[in-house]
Amino acid sequence: MLPNREACGSSDIYSLEEVSKTFEVKSGLARSVRAEIQAVSGVSFRVRPSETFGIIGETGSGKTTIAKMMLLVYRPDTGRILFEGEDISKFKDAQIRDYRRKVQTVFQDPTSSLNPRHKVRDLVEAPLKIYHQASEGKVNSLLKLVNLDDSYLQRYPHTLSGGEKQRVAIARALALNPEVLILDEPTSALDVSVQAKIIALLKDLKTRLKITYVFISHDLSLVANFCDRTLVVYRGKMCEMGETGEIFKNPLHPYTRLLLSSVPVVSDSEIRVKPADVPEEIPTVPINGHSEGCVFRDRCWLREDVCDTGPKFIDKGKEHWVACHFA
Ligand SMILES: Nc1ncnc2c1ncn2[C@@H]1O[C@H](COP(=O)(O)OP(=O)(O)O)[C@@H](O)[C@H]1O
Ligand code: SF4
Ligand SMILES: [Mg+2]
Repeated sequence: MLPNREACGSSDIYSLEEVSKTFEVKSGLARSVRAEIQAVSGVSFRVRPSETFGIIGETGSGKTTIAKMMLLVYRPDTGRILFEGEDISKFKDAQIRDYRRKVQTVFQDPTSSLNPRHKVRDLVEAPLKIYHQASEGKVNSLLKLVNLDDSYLQRYPHTLSGGEKQRVAIARALALNPEVLILDEPTSALDVSVQAKIIALLKDLKTRLKITYVFISHDLSLVANFCDRTLVVYRGKMCEMGETGEIFKNPLHPYTRLLLSSVPVVSDSEIRVKPADVPEEIPTVPINGHSEGCVFRDRCWLREDVCDTGPKFIDKGKEHWVACHFA
């Protein structure tokens, strides 16, 4: 049974039901060769109010495509995305406008998400103006929220550090009091020390504002201390999902174990939670493209013939879901 069907409560913020997205790419002379990339395949999950839901996987796993479907940038080819119980693809203009206020996003690269010709004041004020909510003092209080003082109001993005730019991007995302922030690798363009400060800021904001986060990352160590529940995706498919602590303590899918084994460790206690069965040499890219069977089988050291049939995504107890014949 799929996780969203198992207990799709009306209290869920999001419910994704069997969502898939395929892109057609053209290449070759005159761009005449057509190929299909299945970016997301049969993804189902729920996001509960005020939780931090993590989506993790290597580059190309479909994380941004999932986010863009949730943000109404792309429509799923199949499946549905429900927001507070309503199918977002059926929203009319007024509902879309309301939805865009309630769900905000922060992207990976603050340099490209902030218009270099606008001052910080204008950047943070822009969404307020669109929704006729601009007021004296609102921008100042938003900057204060992200620990930037008034001296930043007149500055241009190129005069800011990466961390400061991301604080401005967060202030702008919070301007309209959203219910959900979709954070797509918000710290991966930053130095490690700055990353930690931005994560601490996001944690603090969440406590203060009671907001729901969808946090996307390729870095399992970031998810560990930040997300309540985590979904592991590989090549557009769900591998594992559950309470983050449970996934770290008891990773059931070989791909999750591979991700965990590559997290740098600094202490004996961290070394103890590293999976022991992950071989040194694992192909980094799939050897063959297969449409059938387990999505991870080209890289999997546990592979057997049965893996030519795709495993079901099942609950192994305590809402710890996994798609592996041997989990
Ligand atoms: N607009 C697009 N057109 C064609 N292919 C795309 C497009 N967006 C993403 N893809 C492809 O879909 C797959 C998933 O991409 P993406 O969702 O960006 O993954 P991630 O965010 O996990 O790195 C990749 O193979 C990527 O090249
Ligand atoms: S189903 Fe088979 S190939 Fe897939 S992760 Fe499990 S053991 Fe590996
Ligand atoms: Mg991405």
